[in-house]
Amino acid sequence: MSLYSRIIGTGGFLPESVLTNRDIEDIIDTSDEWIRGRTGIRKRHVVRDGESCSELAEFASRRALEAAGLEPAEIDLIVVATTTPDQIFPSTACLLQRRLDIRGCCAFDVQAVCAGFVYALGVADQFIRAGSARRALVVGAETMSRLLDWQDRATAVLFGDGAGAVVLEADRNPGIISSHLHADGSYVDLLQVPGGIGGDRNEDHYLEMKGNEVFKMSVTTLCRIVDETLKANGMQKSDIDWLVPHQANIRIIRATARKLDLPMDRVVVTVDEHANTSAASIPLAFDVAVRDGRIRRGETVLMEGFGAGFTWGSVLLEY
Ligand code: ACO
Repeated sequence: MSLYSRIIGTGGFLPESVLTNRDIEDIIDTSDEWIRGRTGIRKRHVVRDGESCSELAEFASRRALEAAGLEPAEIDLIVVATTTPDQIFPSTACLLQRRLDIRGCCAFDVQAVCAGFVYALGVADQFIRAGSARRALVVGAETMSRLLDWQDRATAVLFGDGAGAVVLEADRNPGIISSHLHADGSYVDLLQVPGGIGGDRNEDHYLEMKGNEVFKMSVTTLCRIVDETLKANGMQKSDIDWLVPHQANIRIIRATARKLDLPMDRVVVTVDEHANTSAASIPLAFDVAVRDGRIRRGETVLMEGFGAGFTWGSVLLEY
C-alpha cells in the first residue's frame, strides 16, 4: 500500500512591527491608492533589528508542532524554504534545529524564492513516500524587507516578512496527492538580487525586478501549472475546493482563480495583510484558513507558487 504525507499541524508567525501603505508614503513617492490598486496590498509586517529569519521560523514551527500535538524531538526531517537566510552557512534549517533543540535528524534549506514552499513540500513528500522520514517539519521563512532598496518605489512596496510551517506525517491515506516542480534559469535577469560570493561582497545588493514582465510570465505560467496538475491526476476544475496561491499580487491571484472557475471566496487571500512574504506566503495563508475553520479535513487544496529563477510549482493535497 502507498504511503502519503498528511499535514497534521500548521503554524504561522508575523513580526510585531507593521508598515502600512500610508507609512510608506512618508518614505517614498507612492500612494496607498496606487499600491492597493496595482497589488491589493494594504500593509506588511517587517522585522526589527535583532529579529532573524530563524527566529520567525522557530515561532511558526512551535505553533505547528503544538497543533500537531508533537514534541520537537519527534521530528525526523526539517526542510526550510528561504531566500533570506540568517547566514551564508550553516543553513537556516540547522539554525532552526538548534533553536528547537533537536539533534541528529536531516535538516537542509531549499532556495526557490517565491516557489520555495511548494518546492520544500514536494521534497519532504518524496522523503516520506520513500520511507526515509516519518514526521517532517516544512517551513517557509523570510525577512524580505532586508533585501529591499527602500528608495525604490517599484519594489519596496511589494514585500513583507514572516514565517509559516506545516508538520507532515506518513499515513496510508492522502495526504499530498502530487507535486509538480519546474524551473527555467534563462529568466534570471528579470528578478534577482545580484550580490553573492562571486560578486563584490562589499557592495550593497538589493532586489531588482522587471515587474511588468514578471507579472505576465507568472499569470501564464500559473495557469499552465493548474492544467498540468489537474491533468496528471485526472481531475476536473470542480474537484478543487480551495486555492492557496503564492501571495504576490491580487491581480495574479484573481487570474489563477478565473482559470479554475473558482469564486474568490474559495481562494485564500492574505496579500492585503501580509504583502509578498516569498516562501512564507503559502504556509502563512494556509495556516490562516485552517485556523479560522475555512479549510476542513477531507477538502482538496491546490497550492501554487511562482518566483525568481524562474521557479514554479504546485502541490495538490487532501487536507
Ligand atoms: N507608487 C506609485 N507609482 C509607481 C510605483 C509605486 N510604488 N511603482 C511604480 N510606479 C509607477 C511606475 O513608475 C510607472 O510610471 P510611468 O507609467 O509614469 O512610467 C507606473 O507606476 C506603472 O509601472 P508598472 O511597473 O508598469 O506597473 P505594473 O502595473 O506592472 O505594476 C507591479 C507593477 C505591481 C510590480 C506588477 O508588475 C507586479 O505585481 N509584478 C509581479 C511581481 C511578482 O509577481 N513577483 C512574484 C515573484 S517575487 C519573487 O520571486 C521574490
